[in-house]
Amino acid sequence: MINIHFIKHFIKHYWSATRIDVLHSPFIFDLYNICIKPKKTNADFIAIENLRVQLKNDNRIITQKDLGAGSNISNTKQKTIKQFATQHAKSKRLAQIIYRLIEHYRFKNIIELGTSLGMSACYEAAALKKNFTSPEIQFTTIEGAEEIAQVASENFKQLNLEKYITQHTGNFDDVLPEILKNYQQIDMAFVDGNHRYEPTIKYFHQFISKTHNESMLIFDDIYWSEEMTKAWEEIKQHPQVKVTVDLFFIGLVFFRKEQVKEHFILRVF
Ligand SMILES: C[S@@+](CC[C@H](N)C(=O)[O-])C[C@H]1O[C@@H](n2cnc3c(N)ncnc32)[C@H](O)[C@@H]1O
Repeated sequence: MINIHFIKHFIKHYWSATRIDVLHSPFIFDLYNICIKPKKTNADFIAIENLRVQLKNDNRIITQKDLGAGSNISNTKQKTIKQFATQHAKSKRLAQIIYRLIEHYRFKNIIELGTSLGMSACYEAAALKKNFTSPEIQFTTIEGAEEIAQVASENFKQLNLEKYITQHTGNFDDVLPEILKNYQQIDMAFVDGNHRYEPTIKYFHQFISKTHNESMLIFDDIYWSEEMTKAWEEIKQHPQVKVTVDLFFIGLVFFRKEQVKEHFILRVF
């Protein structure tokens, strides 16, 4: 089915993107030039993209109990690993931007909602590994579908990343409050599942109870539906939020008190 909301906003985003040559904010200028613009590859990217190729050729069937948006349509899905890898994993371009953000801002206390096969988690763990040893890191990724989480676990082992990642299986709604109790503070959280208005706003409030001045939150699929765009607009207006960066497919949220409140729209493709 054609997603008119998505297409309408894609066109709007394209034409309203902030011009890079007139960027006046040094913070956003650096973020763009260091984390968004580069397209250079490295050994981590090659290893993870090789894994993606392997998953895209994997015809094993797995069952997913759908806990997120769309759960009212069908409660359980059966798909091949190939389909999950093609349809749900973060794209190479976006995952590599997230990797550079973690590397550049030296984030080390991270929570991800939505592991799926672990593609984005591999990028996050590989970036963490560049700056820190495993005992210094607190990186938790949560997935509701047990069979998918099992494949993710195999993937982390294959890339020797398992000691940098703590996996939790369960519904975000049940698991997140308990996990948050173990975090003194959160440098980064990535919300990549359950794309509906109410849960998104709830997760935002849960995360901001642990964020600090330099933290960043990432919300995926902010133009996937009207309710996700409503959630994104509400997050932008929150008094603690100072700077947002709309990359269309994902939105970045910053709390830096020293910045004036400002919303940037940047093109990634
Ligand atoms: C888009 S996928 C994540 C993709 C992954 N971050 C990547 O880029 O490789 C979203 C995942 O979130 C999970 N999910 C959605 N809602 C959930 C919930 N309420 N609790 C637990 N898991 C949930 C789904 O099972 C799905 O695997």
